[in-house]
Amino acid sequence: MQKASLKLVKDMQISQVDKRIYGSFIEHMGRAVYGGIYQPDHASSDANGFRNDVKELVKELGVTLVRYPGGNFLSGYNWEDGVGPKDKRPRRTDLAWRAIETNEVGIHEFFDWAEEVGAEVNMAVNMGTRGIDEARQLVEYCNFPSGTEWSDRRIANGRQEPFAIKTWCIGNEMDGPWQIGHKTAEEYGRAASETAKAMKLVDDSIELVACGSSNSQMPTFGDWELTVLDHTYDYVDYLSLHQYYGNPANNLEEYLACSLDMDEFIKGVTAMCDAIKAKKHSKKQMNLSFDEWNIWYHSNEFDKTIKPWLIAPPQLEDHYNFEDTLVFGTLLITLLKHADRIKIACLAQLVNVIAPIFTEENDNDSPAWRQTIFYPFMQAAKYGRGTVLTPLIQTDSYSAGHYDAIPYLESIAVLNEAETEVTVFAVNRSREEMAFSIDSLGLKVTGVTAFTQIAGHAIKAVNTLASNDVKPVDSTRYAVSEEGVTLQLEPLSWNVIRLAVN
Ligand code: AHR
Repeated sequence: MQKASLKLVKDMQISQVDKRIYGSFIEHMGRAVYGGIYQPDHASSDANGFRNDVKELVKELGVTLVRYPGGNFLSGYNWEDGVGPKDKRPRRTDLAWRAIETNEVGIHEFFDWAEEVGAEVNMAVNMGTRGIDEARQLVEYCNFPSGTEWSDRRIANGRQEPFAIKTWCIGNEMDGPWQIGHKTAEEYGRAASETAKAMKLVDDSIELVACGSSNSQMPTFGDWELTVLDHTYDYVDYLSLHQYYGNPANNLEEYLACSLDMDEFIKGVTAMCDAIKAKKHSKKQMNLSFDEWNIWYHSNEFDKTIKPWLIAPPQLEDHYNFEDTLVFGTLLITLLKHADRIKIACLAQLVNVIAPIFTEENDNDSPAWRQTIFYPFMQAAKYGRGTVLTPLIQTDSYSAGHYDAIPYLESIAVLNEAETEVTVFAVNRSREEMAFSIDSLGLKVTGVTAFTQIAGHAIKAVNTLASNDVKPVDSTRYAVSEEGVTLQLEPLSWNVIRLAVN
């Protein structure tokens, strides 16, 4: 039996949670758009061809912001192809994913969909084949009220009021040699700062995200951040981080530790932001947008077999299992631990493509369903609102692979806005049951409002259209006393504990 404890101290706070930390991502690739959110021949589709069953699941998931339209796709995209009468829109080769893009869905359709699901749009501008001119025109098209060429084109295309898009990404993964229009840090840094200036001259209320590294293993990681920040520090508001994890070696203990890597990555990028701040004698704090994160590896082999130049082929369709859900929970907790710097985060992606929501292929009747990773995200988006408390944890640890001192307990607590409830998110990495005690200072725990666990499944168990077994279930294995609460955490479990406090 493992033992672990968490102390809640009301005045030891990390930060308010920015609700945009529960963002996601829709890229024009695979079956994310076509056959995902949009499928005119599906039984549940609305008059515009968007699936109502998918919309309902996106709302249930609690996504607050959706990054769009890419991803690698962005770097070859002409946004003008996706506006105006649908029968006049061109079919194009999508060079990033070597597929055919029909442009049936563009900014207008996507924005209306995002409004319906209650999420804001985080728009991205193409820095691969394009640059300043396109970016300033796109901001004018989306955000300028009227009376100019691009704002009047928006109105002519059916949208009187500006889209008023607040958050914009300046390109995507421009450090990656695979990226169309890949740049050195110097080239991107200069281009991004000039593009940012022009975009903010059109609309000074927008916030901008500059590209950080595509992942922390990139050979240019570090140099890229420092150089890009040196050029863009005064003009942008966030630096991006991207990272995907997997278990190709099939080593559960090691896989469960990958949130330690994410933690190091965030600390490193934060340190680089602060180094440039000091160098520039700046008063401004550069915040972070972790705008691609997830688990991605199950589909790698299948993706090599997909033929080029198809419309919406089934790319990057990972089927998530129980162990992925545990890892996913530790990643969510890690993002919350850094709520003082991470103000935006996007689970990549949302539907079918490495996604929590799945639809059946070539099927115009079956409903969309929830993958295993759906549930931790949904619970965090719903209950992880308010103020993150500093995690004061005692737990034993283990070593696996290249990780030392992997804590058996990963946990974080969030005090809600009304200060009436604390939600504790906890992963028990151990294969043993864990006696978990929570005590508090400055907050009196008066009861347990709910205690759910995802536990007890075969490591590789998945959800499907027909079975939805990997999901939270209630537990009554807890006791409340004057000292606090003690709970029994199942071996290998994701736990959400809502405590009533005053
Ligand atoms: O999310 C899938 C891809 O991963 C994105 O297009 C790209 O930005 C990243 O490499």
